[in-house]
Amino acid sequence: MEDFRLTERLRLEPVAERHAGDLLALYRDPAVAEWYGEWTREQIEAEVARMAAHWRDDGVHKWMAYERTSGDLVGRGGLSRQRVDGVDRLEVGWVLHRRFWGQGYATEIGRAALSFAFDELGAREVVSFTEVHNLRSRAVMERLGFHYSKEISVGGEPFALYVL
Ligand SMILES: CC(C)(COP(=O)(O)OP(=O)(O)OC[C@H]1O[C@@H](n2cnc3c(N)ncnc32)[C@H](O)[C@@H]1OP(=O)(O)O)[C@@H](O)C(=O)NCCC(=O)NCCS
Repeated sequence: MEDFRLTERLRLEPVAERHAGDLLALYRDPAVAEWYGEWTREQIEAEVARMAAHWRDDGVHKWMAYERTSGDLVGRGGLSRQRVDGVDRLEVGWVLHRRFWGQGYATEIGRAALSFAFDELGAREVVSFTEVHNLRSRAVMERLGFHYSKEISVGGEPFALYVL
């Protein structure tokens, strides 16, 4: 494995085409599908290709996260460059397999992403946003020190925007 970074408990790999099977398994976890909807193999292949292209073009995108001790897939998360509320920004997000909730893994991915953004990319701001009723995701933002900014509309739905 040539391109990865380590946190205390996780190995983070930039999403690439070889991760299609793992990403599909993650998005088919019923607790994840509740937020991310149903995905076909073809859609996931297009998604990993899109993410890999962003890594090549922007030098940043999401990581797949694996537990260092077991090698098991924990989830995916990290930064991406996105237009949010009409402004080009760095955003951070996370998705975990249900069996890994409640152990601080999303916070650990978030911390690695913030260090990447502020220490390596020289970012001045990182945002995060989620459905207003996604309280677990909002709690991760708050644990990481984000401040609630305002409600925004994403695809016609109300989302909570946080800024750090
Ligand atoms: C959103 C999501 C990633 C949050 O996962 P999570 O496990 O709640 O968040 P963390 O990994 O930061 O874990 C925090 C919990 O672990 C506990 N914890 C244990 N060890 C910890 C540690 N070392 N550091 C931080 N928290 C720790 C915290 O007390 C907290 O417990 P609580 O939920 O009982 O309050 C998860 O619910 C998910 O994947 N949801 C579906 C996808 C989704 O909605 N993604 C967000 C889209 S914007």
